[in-house]
Amino acid sequence: AFNLRNRSFLKELDFTPAELQYLLQLSAELKAAKRGGYEQPRLRGREIALIFEKTSTRTRTAFETAAHDQGAQVTYLDPTGSQIGHKESMKDTARVLGRTFDAIEYRGSAQQQVETLAAYAGVPVYNGLTDEFHPTQILADMLTMSEHSDKPLHDVAFCYLGDARNNMGNSLMVGGCKFGMDVRLCAPEHLWPREDLVKTCHEIAAETGARLTLTADLDEGVRGVDYLYTDVWVSMGEDPSVWAERIELLKPYQVNMDLIGRTGNPRVRFMHCLPAFHNRDTKVGEQIFQQFGLDALEVTDEVFESPHSIVFDQAENRLHTIKAVLVATIGD
Ligand code: CP
Ligand code: NVA
Repeated sequence: AFNLRNRSFLKELDFTPAELQYLLQLSAELKAAKRGGYEQPRLRGREIALIFEKTSTRTRTAFETAAHDQGAQVTYLDPTGSQIGHKESMKDTARVLGRTFDAIEYRGSAQQQVETLAAYAGVPVYNGLTDEFHPTQILADMLTMSEHSDKPLHDVAFCYLGDARNNMGNSLMVGGCKFGMDVRLCAPEHLWPREDLVKTCHEIAAETGARLTLTADLDEGVRGVDYLYTDVWVSMGEDPSVWAERIELLKPYQVNMDLIGRTGNPRVRFMHCLPAFHNRDTKVGEQIFQQFGLDALEVTDEVFESPHSIVFDQAENRLHTIKAVLVATIGD
């Protein structure tokens, strides 16, 4: 087995393919144990700090329930409830919390912040989303794809459409290459990931056998894929004024029934990290739909609610995969 004790989980780049594979294996075991009613607590007595400088539903609740299932305690610090960044530096915060907690989760903006936290805390730090990466989400996505595929992950093809420069675009590209998959990012060139990260991913792909394609062409992107993946067109922390430009750029990349048809795969599955703007049931969504005269953004309600959609399996798997990260890094 692999020893990930005391390791931080800041980005997929820091882990070997075998280590990531091990985390998926452990996730599957923990999921089966919970479902089977034979889960053993391996985090008794552990104290975990959860710092959220941006809002969250899945990531926070997954950390809290994972910790609870395993016998650990959590302390939640919300975007307004701490001194971090306003009155105290990350370096000082790290050294304070490192004395009190066995591990720290952090969600914020700059990747550098979570890296600094990890450098000075002296305990494992987990990236619960930054502008650059969302590594715990990718573990859940890979577990979900492995559950829904009748072939190994390295034979699986997925296409991520939309803002490929955001945390999900970056993390899916790195993660997919680490797992040796057929990875396609389909977006206008302006929204492709940074060149140096793409270069690194081509190097990873050369080692793992992954096939990495960046394209603006829809047919090249989606033909024959097993999974279509999208995310919001404007991420947390971005100025709402970018909506107009993003809609203009990304409208052709919306996941709708026509796009499902263009894959040529009647069994293609639809994925989304959530939250999603697929109907008028959210305040923000409603406002944008009205302003731009649309009734869907990155995905239509028809696709979201169709049998193609496995978004809630993904959401559930946040729990099992985050639990695996905790058990592997600070468990008995
Ligand atoms: N997918 C995801 O990270 O969701 P939350 O923002 O609700 O945590
Ligand atoms: N790209 C999105 C992901 C949310 C889980 C955001 O950063 O808002």
